[in-house]
Amino acid sequence: MKLLSTYLLLIVSGTSLMSGYILWTFYAFFMQSRQTDLENWSTALSESVTDVLEANDTQGVQSIVQRYGAPANITLRVFDAQGSLLATSDPQTDRQVTDWLPIPGVSEALSGHVAQGVAKGVLSTSDRIYIAKPITRNGQLLGILRISITLEQFQKQFASVTWTILAALVLTIFLCTLVSDHLARSLSKPIEVMRNFAIRVGGGQFDDRLMIRQSNELDQLATELNRMSARLKSLDEERRAFLANVSHELRTPVSNVQVTIEALERGAVDEPELRDRFFQTIKEETKRLSVLIHDLLDLGRLEAGITSLEIQAIALKSVISRAIRAMEVRMQAKNVTVQVDVEDLRVMGDSERLLQAFLNLLDNAIKYSTPNACIFITASRNKQQALISIRDQGSGIPETNLPRIFEQFYTTSHSTKQSGVGLGLAIAKRILEAHGGSITASSQPGQGAIFTLSLPLES
Ligand SMILES: Nc1ncnc2c1ncn2[C@@H]1O[C@H](COP(=O)(O)OP(=O)(O)O)[C@@H](O)[C@H]1O
Ligand SMILES: [Mg+2]
Repeated sequence: MKLLSTYLLLIVSGTSLMSGYILWTFYAFFMQSRQTDLENWSTALSESVTDVLEANDTQGVQSIVQRYGAPANITLRVFDAQGSLLATSDPQTDRQVTDWLPIPGVSEALSGHVAQGVAKGVLSTSDRIYIAKPITRNGQLLGILRISITLEQFQKQFASVTWTILAALVLTIFLCTLVSDHLARSLSKPIEVMRNFAIRVGGGQFDDRLMIRQSNELDQLATELNRMSARLKSLDEERRAFLANVSHELRTPVSNVQVTIEALERGAVDEPELRDRFFQTIKEETKRLSVLIHDLLDLGRLEAGITSLEIQAIALKSVISRAIRAMEVRMQAKNVTVQVDVEDLRVMGDSERLLQAFLNLLDNAIKYSTPNACIFITASRNKQQALISIRDQGSGIPETNLPRIFEQFYTTSHSTKQSGVGLGLAIAKRILEAHGGSITASSQPGQGAIFTLSLPLES
């Protein structure tokens, strides 16, 4: 889990930087305020020290130093202009020192500069912050004042704060690691399950379903994977059914022809009446086969999107008239008439393809019409679309069949020896859809069927 370790790294470095920064500011602030304190005190004291030094009042120096110094914390020392100690608030320690010049700040102050800083205590190892200030009057160096305060308590406190923060930091890192480890586990488990699922689906196992528990993103992904698998399953079933249908529909006419030819070979050819009938059968069956193959190829091309439509603005009326003219003989044979009420509309389409769709619809209308009935064709404009309806007075379509009639190979006319194996409407639908149009069917019991088409108008 690369992402999580990146997050972990970010959190760790972020918190470390922040605590480092807090500690540093805390330290700097404290030192700064102590320095200022020292400065203020030395300024306040230097006035009285100057007075007593000028008056050569050793007693006075002594008493100032005693009054303001505190044994361990604040040490005050006054030196004369040569750098020898005049008074100190810590005589015990200072008695052991003979040469004061190496003590930080002393020589600078003697040369007339204020010196400030942090140094080890005189004869001790603890850190102290000090200020050494020359005492002058009228430009003449009278001596120096050195004040120092211990940092021991502060450093102890600072150390304990540092340790606390460090401990908190370690705890944070530990908890973060724990949490991200848990997250990594809880993420990688379902991802692994899904990966295995995807592998199974890829291998053709569509019956599995992923378990879905909560409603986080992973479960949404699982839902989508389930949906995908279900869709693949139905596509797979469609494909199998299609293949089964195709092979069945192809086998029937072929075996009919084979059987007929065998019968002819076995002697039927010598009987004129039988021979003619058998030849007629062979003719019909091969024609059926050719129509079927033609339809299948069309469907396949439409499905694959290979057929490129030659879309142009065409007069709807002329396409419809061509379709009617082609069907004239069949209509006369069945004594079916047609009534056309088509507005002058120009639609965007491929005229040959649209003709094919209309032929398929008219073919059905004639096929399912009762003799002496009428077929009504109307077309009108509706917004940017042409609405075309083809209505017959036949038996109509039962409501249970309506949703399925546009499926490939769905037909109710198997028993009758009429043309078509259930591809006509499937092809018409694909043609309309390739044009950006649509086709729907409706039917009232006993009142015939109505097919409604929409096509984009010329803009
Ligand atoms: N005008 C219609 N009247 C009644 N039923 C129809 C009509 N058009 C189509 N059908 C129904 O829809 C089915 C599918 O039509 P189609 O795809 O053209 O196949 P086919 O004509 O080969 O049966 C038909 O079998 C029939 O049941
Ligand atoms: Mg048909």
